[in-house]
Amino acid sequence: MPPFFKKKTKPIQPVEPERLPRHIGVIMDGNGRWAKNRGLPRQAGHVYGAKVFRTITKYCEKIGINYVTFYAFSTENWKRPQQEIDAIMDLLRDYLKESLRDFKKENIRTLFIGERSALAPDIRELMEEAEASTAHKDGMVLNIALNYGGRDELVHAVRSLAEDVKAGRLSPDDIDEERIGRRLYTAGQPDPDLILRPSGEYRLSNFLTWQSAYSEYVFQDILWPDYRTEDLDAALAEYARRNRRFGGI
Ligand code: IPE
Ligand code: IPE
Ligand code: MG
Repeated sequence: MPPFFKKKTKPIQPVEPERLPRHIGVIMDGNGRWAKNRGLPRQAGHVYGAKVFRTITKYCEKIGINYVTFYAFSTENWKRPQQEIDAIMDLLRDYLKESLRDFKKENIRTLFIGERSALAPDIRELMEEAEASTAHKDGMVLNIALNYGGRDELVHAVRSLAEDVKAGRLSPDDIDEERIGRRLYTAGQPDPDLILRPSGEYRLSNFLTWQSAYSEYVFQDILWPDYRTEDLDAALAEYARRNRRFGGI
């Protein structure tokens, strides 16, 4: 067994379909530390992380998850060294090109959430192609959060509501939770039931700020490139044990 891969964990009893979350959010974290632990450049962690992203996406579709949102690049990640940002963007290009071929085989609808204007024009074009070529799919929805920030998303929503008020199309009294939700990147989608954060960090890092109001969290002490389908099974089993009350009893 190559030293990169950890041993398989004990299989977990599969969760009954009605106890599965409809929408899972995943904060893919720990790529840099994974690489550092191996004396590799941080970019190598992103390469392995991208492979795990593919595996977990396919697995989610296979087990019947309806929506999955992966946090791939935050509005704060521009603070990183340019070399690392370039490597992440190159991986994204590779993924998009490869998936444009692959998508045909899978019943997955791909969408991107986040502010696109800061991304390179060729990447934006590939993103649009990926969305257009999967728009007719009726299987799982895959959201990829790119240059995404929950606060930035709310700023956009508030701005667009303010414009409507200014133009006389909307009264301030009519602004409600539903109308705000409809101006978010995830408009029309259910809120995430479960948010996973591997890597041992216990924070949201600006992910799905509005949508996560009643999400269940599972924090796992596993670096993302080490994340296996068994780890997702464990998180799903934990989720299935939770009692969600939404303020009720
Ligand atoms: C997550 O892994 C990937 C991105 C944020 C793009 P990190 O690169 O944050 O890895 P760590 O947290 O430094 O280990
Ligand atoms: C969150 O991870 C962003 C992504 C996974 C894309 P970070 O590594 O950027 O988060 P912090 O800086 O540790 O909070
Ligand atoms: Mg990190």
